[in-house]
Amino acid sequence: MPLSFPFTQPDAYQPEALARNYDALHSSGVSSLREQTTGLYAIWKYDDVEQILKGADDSVSNKTTLNPLTPMARFAANPAAWPSLAHLVTVPAATANAHGQQHEEVRRAVFAQGGLSLRLDATTLAFGELIARRAQAAADDLASRGGATNDFAAVFARPLAAGVISAIVGFGAQDEWRVQQWSDAQTALLGRPLDRRGQKVGVRGLSDLSRACRALAKARAASPASDLASHLLAHGLDVRRAGATLMNIMAAGYSTSYGTLLNSMRFLLSAEGRSWWDGLAHEDSLPDLVTELIRVETGLIGWKRLAAKDVRLSDGTLIPAGSQMLLMLGAANRDPDRFTEPHRIRRDRAERKEPKPLTFGTGPHLCLGREVARAEISVALSVLRHRFPGMVLQPPTGWFRYDPDYLFRTPVSLPVRVHGED
Ligand code: HEM
Repeated sequence: MPLSFPFTQPDAYQPEALARNYDALHSSGVSSLREQTTGLYAIWKYDDVEQILKGADDSVSNKTTLNPLTPMARFAANPAAWPSLAHLVTVPAATANAHGQQHEEVRRAVFAQGGLSLRLDATTLAFGELIARRAQAAADDLASRGGATNDFAAVFARPLAAGVISAIVGFGAQDEWRVQQWSDAQTALLGRPLDRRGQKVGVRGLSDLSRACRALAKARAASPASDLASHLLAHGLDVRRAGATLMNIMAAGYSTSYGTLLNSMRFLLSAEGRSWWDGLAHEDSLPDLVTELIRVETGLIGWKRLAAKDVRLSDGTLIPAGSQMLLMLGAANRDPDRFTEPHRIRRDRAERKEPKPLTFGTGPHLCLGREVARAEISVALSVLRHRFPGMVLQPPTGWFRYDPDYLFRTPVSLPVRVHGED
């Protein structure tokens, strides 16, 4: 039977199906396939995905990386989308869709010393306290609901991710629920083919997010505060570019983080993951475990690049110029040519000299917020294990619904009970 793209099938993101489908791609003897609905060229081998992300030659472009998956012509033919599009065309490229000097300036400003920065060495100092406070507050909320079944996504994971990224950027608590709505809308834009109504909602969410970020940058230009918005302005970005950078950071830092936390908790509370959950009573097991969870249970399983010229894969296959490529980060992270027992959590990957997972990308666009994400997931797991050692999935052998999406793998909800609260 010819190989087909498995992830448009219902239930393809259920854990066992995911592993089976990745195995089928890796054992297929080919290195890419053209997905019928979107025309995306799916690419899954670790070496190919790594090479394309590094973008070492001019055959790969990131110009369209943040474009909607739905073709632009459909938006142009949808009058309900026009008011939002009119704003969005004024937003300059800032991070994932910028390149060259423009892109370097933005990264320099984000990482610059002083004030708030997303630098690795500054992350724990600057954001550790914030993340711990937010995780405790979300755990308080979960505890206050007693023995009932609650959706861990709605009560803990989404408020935590929205609260952390909003506070870093400079939004007030009153904006956090809107951050969730805006980000959901724009996430769908990136990874799903949308009907006319979905198109309208998606571009509306993104343009509202962009307007709010630009307004925040403008306010901080007049009156600086202790936040990332002020930091970017102080390090050379004008209001429009600071606003665009904040928008990208908000969008990049929310769905990715809460999705990875949800997938991780789904695993840890399953029969297979329970011993890892129990082991979290000893804090020294946390760093290795988080590294592995981020590899296997990432919420961002795919990302896009454009073939500016023909792109040659490691086995000689040519991806034709002009094609959109779907880089299957999740599949690359489970490539049996690079990872022993790729679906399993193992502690010894560093000793075995296995490569770094591609969850956060690699090369010039390596994730700006990777240490924030790592800190968020680590602190959340530590707080949750401490407060709710007997937490269980509901039902314990749960089947969970995943929205069909080419880039994000996130259970729509994760019902839990917190039996073991101290
Ligand atoms: C588990 C959570 C996360 C995952 C899986 C993730 C994944 C990624 C990936 C794969 C890229 C590379 C994009 C490319 O090559 O085009 C990226 C870039 C980026 N990420 Fe993350 N990310 C996460 C969390 C965050 C957080 C918390 C923030 C903000 C605090 C953030 C901000 C960014 C930004 C701004 C970029 C663009 C960097 C550039 O183009 O120079 N991410 N992320």
